[in-house]
Amino acid sequence: MEKKMIKVLFVCLGNICRSPLAEGIFNKKVIQAGLSGYIQSDSAGTSGWHINEPPDVRTIETAGRHDIHLDHYGRKFIRRDLDDYDYIVAMDDENYNEVMSRKEGPENIRATVIKMLDFDKEQSGADVPDPYYGGKDGFEQVFSLLEESTGNLLNEIVRKYRIMK
Ligand code: 4NP
Repeated sequence: MEKKMIKVLFVCLGNICRSPLAEGIFNKKVIQAGLSGYIQSDSAGTSGWHINEPPDVRTIETAGRHDIHLDHYGRKFIRRDLDDYDYIVAMDDENYNEVMSRKEGPENIRATVIKMLDFDKEQSGADVPDPYYGGKDGFEQVFSLLEESTGNLLNEIVRKYRIMK
């Protein structure tokens, strides 16, 4: 029997700063844990402003300082993602509300839609701040938040689906 991949989609506004960084950090953790045959991730933006563009140069540099290579081109979040993914992880309230607004009614969807910092005990409910209009420090701050929360997300998935190598 084919084993089911657990699929995670990180979502922000532009898909060039926060969500591709989350994807890169999470993927590295998945690979380091030897779980790439069980868990996969992607990222998307609620706007269509940066479709097919690489991440912002500051995102690429921040990832690079932590030995993470980003291999992503911008794409827009679509309704079908709600049924194609197990987790849709929104960076802030605006992204979360936008994702949920694509649900047409009380229909069941595959995805658990949740905010990124709900996986951080100390920051639960908070937004990952948008670093786009700020400086380099903002990107490092975002990196730290994502490092902690993506690690906790991975632990939750391993526990919930009883993934064993
Ligand atoms: P992101 O940041 O949502 O974390 O990718 C932004 C990227 C681009 C823009 C805004 C936020 N923009 O206005 O183009």
